[in-house]
This record gives sequence, structure tokens and C-alpha cells, in this order.
Amino acid sequence: MITFYTYLRQTPTWPNGINDGKIIFTSLKNAGADYIHFASEGKGFNHGCLTKDGESLPKFAREITGLPVIANGGLDHSGEANRIFEDGHADLIALGTGALANPDWPNRLKNKDKILPFNPDMFTSGVTIEDQFKWEDAADIQY
Ligand SMILES: Cc1cc2nc3c(=O)[nH]c(=O)nc-3n(C[C@H](O)[C@H](O)[C@H](O)COP(=O)(O)O)c2cc1C
Repeated sequence: MITFYTYLRQTPTWPNGINDGKIIFTSLKNAGADYIHFASEGKGFNHGCLTKDGESLPKFAREITGLPVIANGGLDHSGEANRIFEDGHADLIALGTGALANPDWPNRLKNKDKILPFNPDMFTSGVTIEDQFKWEDAADIQY
């Protein structure tokens, strides 16, 4: 399994839009990448994954490489997550802040439980799972 860390965060400003993506994605495939994982900078999927002309880079990467593509950016909202699959943007989604706030996110979605918003204060006791439980107890977070 080969993982390339590619910083695709400036996609909206790529001067040649989707044509720059074509060069980069093809190069990744030719270098032996097993998958391509897009990240956003916390401003949502559209900000991180669409070109300035609104074209979907993950969808394009899927089409021209045939590789599995992972999308990211505010996808802990079920409507947004569904949209990614329905519109063919990606094969998988990855959660950052949503997974920190909801470590059991798949079950929450399945059971239609509340999806909690991310709160950076959760790191005030430390960064381990035990520290997070301490913060939840102190903040009286109800799961
Ligand atoms: C605590 C924390 C640490 C992160 N560390 C990294 C990192 O080391 N490398 C990286 O590319 N992105 C990192 N990210 C960004 C996430 O991978 C993700 O792209 C971003 O949070 C947007 O996704 P989200 O809307 O699901 O949170 C980090 C995010 C958080 C909240």
C-alpha cells in the first residue's frame, strides 16, 4: 500500500484548474498510488475539492485514474456525506473534527442519534481518549 501525502488544499487557486489535476492525478497513478485522499482545510468539501470553475477534482481523479478516492471536508453532516456518494465525487469519506466529536459516528448515523458539533475545548484536559472522557464528564456532555 503506497500512501502519498499531497497537499491539494489550494485547488481553488490552481491556475489551470482541472488540467493541473489531470497532470497530478495521472502522475500519482503512474507512481503506484493505491488511492487518492483529498483533504480540506476545515472550510468544507466545496472549498477544498472544487476548482475555481466548480469542477469536482475527486470525481475527476476517479474518472481518469480508476483509483479509489477519499473525500473530506465537513462530511459528518449526513446530507453532505450522501451528496458525495450520490453525485459520484468519491468512493469513501474521511472525517476529521466530526470523528473527534463523534467517535461512534457510523452508529450515530445508523441509529439517527444526534451528531455533536466539534468543540476544540475537548483538548483542554489532554489529547487521549481518557482525557476526552474527562472533558465530557466535566462539561456534562450527554451521549
Ligand atoms: C486535531 C487535528 C489535527 C489534524 N492534523 C492533520 C495533519 O496532521 N495532516 C493533515 O493533512 N490534516 C490534518 N488535519 C485536518 C483534517 O485531516 C481534515 O482535513 C480537516 O479537519 C477537515 O475535515 P473535517 O471537516 O472532517 O474536520 C487535522 C485536523 C484536526 C482537527
